[in-house]
Amino acid sequence: MFPRDFAWGAGTAAYQIEGGWQADGKGPSIWDAFCHENGRVFGEQNGDVACNSYELWEKDLECIQQLGVTHYRLSLSWARLLPDGTTRHVNQTGVQYYNKVIDDLLACDVSPMVTLYHFDLPQTLQDQGGWKSPGIATLFDSYAKFCFQTFGDRVKLWITINEPHVCAKLGYEDGIHAPGLKEKGTAAYLVGHNMLRAHAMAWHSYNSVYRPQQKGAVSLALNSDWFEPSDQHCNEDIAAAERDLAFTLGWFAWPVFVTGDYPEVMRTAIDARSAKLRYNGASRLPSFSSDDPAILGTADFFALNYYTSRKVKPGGGCGETLCIKSDRDAEEVLDSSWPICGVSWLAVVPYGLRKLLKYIKDTFNNPEVYITENGFSQVGQLQMEDVQRCEFYKDTIMEVAKAIHQDGVNVRGYFAWSLMDNFEWADGFSVRFGLFHVDFSDAKLRRTIYRSGREYAKIIEKYKSGQPK
Ligand code: GAL
Repeated sequence: MFPRDFAWGAGTAAYQIEGGWQADGKGPSIWDAFCHENGRVFGEQNGDVACNSYELWEKDLECIQQLGVTHYRLSLSWARLLPDGTTRHVNQTGVQYYNKVIDDLLACDVSPMVTLYHFDLPQTLQDQGGWKSPGIATLFDSYAKFCFQTFGDRVKLWITINEPHVCAKLGYEDGIHAPGLKEKGTAAYLVGHNMLRAHAMAWHSYNSVYRPQQKGAVSLALNSDWFEPSDQHCNEDIAAAERDLAFTLGWFAWPVFVTGDYPEVMRTAIDARSAKLRYNGASRLPSFSSDDPAILGTADFFALNYYTSRKVKPGGGCGETLCIKSDRDAEEVLDSSWPICGVSWLAVVPYGLRKLLKYIKDTFNNPEVYITENGFSQVGQLQMEDVQRCEFYKDTIMEVAKAIHQDGVNVRGYFAWSLMDNFEWADGFSVRFGLFHVDFSDAKLRRTIYRSGREYAKIIEKYKSGQPK
């Protein structure tokens, strides 16, 4: 059984589905720029057209209705609404597009969960330093207020920033996501810091100005694998798994849910490593100052993106240079009993979600939790009768039920990633997470439900009313 008002959803993100990258006055984003550079994305692909949801939204809506979800998670393209990133110039056609999406959803009795930032910073703001610049927090807050003001009469669930960990690490440390920088061991911490400041400013704006009338809830979506010690009886491995959790989830969840500051273990490890390498200067992990908005308490629920698990032991650094991997001193390995399905990083470990949910309950003061992403990919030979993905969803949803009933975790909703096959960042269209297949060789980009989509629809139908039918 699931709670009667449990949110059953599916998710997408603007850059991954919309296309229309220059349509009707939209400004460029860092993902437009990144994909247009050679050698960045698989097969030199890009999201110029993607699923063309900018023109084919009605087709997406049909898919959403076919699944019977109660909720749909989408993101807004900042540069479609505010082409240069600032409220000096509003693109009314962009506003109309999202108004239609939101109104159509509500007319079909589907509640929108809206993410303000899913990786696609307006390029104009990147040119001014992007997330490394402290001023970005105020610019994000203005954008957020604009969105609350424009759409908040109808949108009641907001995510400010999706996966700050991924934005910071993949975008500024590993360089495999936009903006493609590899400033190892420094920039990602600064970016994460400014994302937390930006998120907190937006939450405070909502809380004081919009919440009284709009009565919605705001959080940020945090990604984490479940990390467990390679050897459960080895103290070093146990400590390494704890460090990994701190460097992934704790980095953002600790300030927001526990202390208003970073996990102690993170700062200690980073500063010890700086000292060892004779790095001069202030701590690479910035500190919050009294001028910053209070970070503690700036989430009305916990939003978790979970995909996979890792076994952990000490090690796995980058030699005598600075990098996050050396700071965290946690080497991640796969358990050979975990099947890899589709993309190489995705070991299928449904029980890891239950463990992570219990960890969140115990560590972050028993918050309401929405699982805002969870999914399974296909690569290569595609199967419309994707039985493995069907099993994956069934097993995972069973683990969520156990987390609720046996562990007492307050899980409020589950969003499958993704509604349909889409532009999977650096992997382009080669990795498919959809519940609907998209034929990218067809001019109409036809959407066709996979077997897993039909199965998910059945699960939703069965549990939607609270009682299994
Ligand atoms: C997440 C991201 C999504 C999606 C997913 C699958 O990190 O938020 O946009 O791509 O991973 O890799």
